[in-house]
Amino acid sequence: MCGIIGYTGSEDVREVLLDALELLEYRGYDSAGLAVKDAENGEIKVRKCAGRVSDLRAICASEKLVSTCGIGHTRWATHGGVNDRNAHPHQVGKVTLVHNGIIENYQELIADYELADELASETDSEVVAALLNHFYEGNPAEALKKTVSKLRGTFALVVMFADQPEIIYSTRNVSPIVATLCDEGAMLASDLTALCRFTNRYFVVPEYHILELHKDAVILKDFEENTVEPEFLTVDWELNSAGKAGYPFYMEKEIMEQPDAIANTIGNRIKGGMPDFSKDGVPDTLFTSCERICIIACGTAMHAGLVAQALVKSILHMHIDVEMASEFMYSDPVIDEKTLVIAVSQSGETIDTLEAVKYAKRRGAKCLSIINVKGSSIARESDYVLYTSAGPEIAVASTKAYTTQLSVFYLIVARMAHSRGVFTQEETQSFVRELQRTPDVMRKVLENRRDIHVVAKKILSAKDLFMIGRGLDYSILLEGSLKLKEVSYIHSEAYASGELKHGPIALITQDTPVVASVTQEKLFSKELSNIREVKSRGADVVIFIKENLSAKLEGEYEMIKLPDMQDEFMVLPASVALQLLAYYVSSDKGFDVDKPRNLAKVVTVE
Ligand code: AGP
Repeated sequence: MCGIIGYTGSEDVREVLLDALELLEYRGYDSAGLAVKDAENGEIKVRKCAGRVSDLRAICASEKLVSTCGIGHTRWATHGGVNDRNAHPHQVGKVTLVHNGIIENYQELIADYELADELASETDSEVVAALLNHFYEGNPAEALKKTVSKLRGTFALVVMFADQPEIIYSTRNVSPIVATLCDEGAMLASDLTALCRFTNRYFVVPEYHILELHKDAVILKDFEENTVEPEFLTVDWELNSAGKAGYPFYMEKEIMEQPDAIANTIGNRIKGGMPDFSKDGVPDTLFTSCERICIIACGTAMHAGLVAQALVKSILHMHIDVEMASEFMYSDPVIDEKTLVIAVSQSGETIDTLEAVKYAKRRGAKCLSIINVKGSSIARESDYVLYTSAGPEIAVASTKAYTTQLSVFYLIVARMAHSRGVFTQEETQSFVRELQRTPDVMRKVLENRRDIHVVAKKILSAKDLFMIGRGLDYSILLEGSLKLKEVSYIHSEAYASGELKHGPIALITQDTPVVASVTQEKLFSKELSNIREVKSRGADVVIFIKENLSAKLEGEYEMIKLPDMQDEFMVLPASVALQLLAYYVSSDKGFDVDKPRNLAKVVTVE
């Protein structure tokens, strides 16, 4: 999951590329590099290094260079370690190239075309550059088509040729590329956040097409040389919302944005107090004709699916599966034309989820997706899309995307319940009214974040930590535990608290930190006895508890009180509190909260 940028126009290209790479760095930050065409002698000069974009910026600052055409890359290492040699761009002969994706047959290509002597790195990407150079005889499009015909795997390729003027070429398969033409020139990138500085108009580069960026034009052709008119879209993000707005980290900003993100996501989908998807073009028949539901997603998006699963079972009494996208295709899933598949993805580019959606559609399922990025690959693959309006989510740890995904699920459940005759109109409106309380309830949690910071300080030095809860509390904690794991590196595990005594409780010793979630009134007594079991074995317990349940535990336990909502909505305030817990632990440990080690924001490799 790398970040790619290309620009040719009137601006100083190194500044454009470096600024864009900083916005794309959340996609991968093992190394960074750029290649620019020297305006004085036409040479393509490559500067790259292991480390961050700031390190690359320092290298570039030490030399004067005039250029208005170039490409750039931030890397999340797949083939080859993290070092200068393996950083992109790769230059072989007349070809200078950056790549996002995985070439599965790169070793065969090295042997088949005797490329070994051309290679300086261990990467699959440099093999593509060498193969492209092998085929290049002065016609970039022909050489690209020949090269692509030999590749097996996923790729977004962005190329400059030494003997071509200031033109950038690109082609892709699965890995994303968006592009635009604006007053300042032509630009392409792995995703929208890098284009926001110049414009809110963009188009998605179709797979197996050749894109040419010229200073004052973009030329798009299919592999049969037919010119294709780009289908421009408009991003509805505020242009400056991709910045930190004064927060130390994007994660904090995005946690704080959640009340507005929820309001923006549900606002225009409620008419007369009823859920309304007419503007999204999602028909009720989608909800009334299906016999089962299958939610497909990864990571946090999958955790949103777990909450939806609980709601669908308790309210709709329907059969519903939640599938890890990476396991889905290999688990012989029962999918047919009576299955409604709901794919959930912030980026809309997670390849595990994308391939799972394609698999499900081949088996006759209809697919509705809940996506945050307009025009993304999963959105384009789906029959219907409900976009969240979270705005750009830059921090690797997903926060506002998760809660806005939940808010869409609440509307889906309400719409399904009404259209399937489970809810009367009044019951539906009552359910929706509770959802509409969410922004204010979340603001109350955010106002109380100091207390959460105090709890965070108590667990800074923890190596292992347990999170325990039952029912929806368990789903809440699976997500809370992932947040803590991925930004603070504490080995946190969420357990269904009733399961502890079947083995895991053997791990509880004196002062083992345990976070409990108690938000479900009907489970209160059971959860309390499980909490007492771990406390009696020395655990240091803090409880995130629904306010109206807390009186009974005053003075007995340390508690974070959560503003009251109906039980099935408590995941919303509880999640914000647990996001803050993870954020404060990570920031107090001095970590780069937005770019945790080994991670990337968009996982475009299987
Ligand atoms: C969550 O904090 C992680 N960044 C990760 O689990 C993420 O939710 C997952 O990779 C799915 O990403 P998507 O929503 O863009 O498909």
